[in-house]
Amino acid sequence: MTNLVASKEVQTLLDRASGIGEAGGNARLKAIMRDLLESTMSLIEKHDISESEFWQAINYLQNGAPEFGLIVPGVGIEHFLDLHMDAKDAAAGLSGGTPRTIEGPLYVAGAPLVESGANLTDDADEGEVLTMSGAVRGPDGEAVPNAILHVWHANSKGFYSHFDPTGEQATFNNRRRLKLGADGRYAFSSIMPRGYSVPPGGATDVLMKALGRHGNRPAHVHFFIEAPVRATTSPSVRAKVCCRRPTAAAAMRI
Ligand SMILES: [Fe+2]
Repeated sequence: MTNLVASKEVQTLLDRASGIGEAGGNARLKAIMRDLLESTMSLIEKHDISESEFWQAINYLQNGAPEFGLIVPGVGIEHFLDLHMDAKDAAAGLSGGTPRTIEGPLYVAGAPLVESGANLTDDADEGEVLTMSGAVRGPDGEAVPNAILHVWHANSKGFYSHFDPTGEQATFNNRRRLKLGADGRYAFSSIMPRGYSVPPGGATDVLMKALGRHGNRPAHVHFFIEAPVRATTSPSVRAKVCCRRPTAAAAMRI
């Protein structure tokens, strides 16, 4: 393998391309861009990527841009962001909570704020009734008072409100923010969601198949906890929890 990236010529090229030495611009962006470019060049050299392979990848990214929100979790980058934040929390002594999990691209802010115990479903749906209950706990198992639990999931056809290609769902169907009391306990009823896949034939599907993988997710419910805890480091910590066993009661620790 050649070692072109380490050469003085390429190192100088990287400095110039990322604006190192220029007075203007954003210093942090310059540093990140330089590393990004160097990593890309190293990949080309390491795998001896041909010109046609490179432009095929650029073409893929250009055409696949509308699906970046699916591609990023699909290739594990969004999960890595969660692992990175968990690791930083642990290094700061903030361990013991439920590990973060990916939020995905289908969260929508502003869902109705309702009392715990509410029904999440606005639309008629012949799916099985889902009931869930559990508690939000602090890192030592203590009750977390006055938390807000964001819950969202697909309907029995595997579609989320706001993103339903049939256009048939009410705006916040299967989306609520539950107000929890002093004991941190929550409960709600809804409709059992169905698993879903990335759009067939879309950019994410094409990539998954090329990797010998698939773009299917089992039925699941998303949770997002908003609570005023750990005030020494942040006035509000939000833990994201994704439960893949929707019939089970879920205990979440933040
Ligand atoms: Fe989901």
